[in-house]
Amino acid sequence: MSNLTELHKRILTCPDCALSQSRTNAVPGEGPDNTEIMFVGEAPGWHEDQQGRPFVGPAGQYLDELLKSINLKRGNVFITNMVKCRPPGNRDPLPGEIQACRKYLDQQLLTIRPKVIVTLGRHSLARFFPGETISKVHGTSKKGNGVVYFALYHPAAALHQQSLRKTIDADILKLPQILAQLSGGEEKKPEIKQLNLF
Ligand code: URA
Repeated sequence: MSNLTELHKRILTCPDCALSQSRTNAVPGEGPDNTEIMFVGEAPGWHEDQQGRPFVGPAGQYLDELLKSINLKRGNVFITNMVKCRPPGNRDPLPGEIQACRKYLDQQLLTIRPKVIVTLGRHSLARFFPGETISKVHGTSKKGNGVVYFALYHPAAALHQQSLRKTIDADILKLPQILAQLSGGEEKKPEIKQLNLF
């Protein structure tokens, strides 16, 4: 069994925070373990909780459209969340829930070692762009430890605030250039030795 499969099995029965009491299914994430691109959202919503898969509701349909707009196949990227179980009523995950779940994302990062991490929304931004605000850094990237971090508004934000759709549609168009630069650069995946590198 691959490291990732084993990890995901553990997530499915994780009892480490109160969200385990209310979930229908934990949602570890999905995608190939040798991909270079990882998308990190916030937490599963109702549809994801029902199906045990990330981004399969309305926000996921919009994410699929965004991926299509840059000719990226959903099956070729890894998609996961900061928190693997649905917060009741789709409320924001609590700091303690994010902390309890952190080890799973850490392990996914160590196993997959993506070259590009796309943050979707505020919670993922807080981890990978600490101290930044989404309204300031959306559509921008930064490099660190051999990884490129690229910040996007959460796709659900466009469902609540129609005016953001144009912004997100434009921001995602910057991703192909980042990916093109990767293939022109060094081929080797970065050596990640410490969890706190991310
Ligand atoms: N919103 C998220 O942040 N993640 C999902 O998986 C679905 C909706």
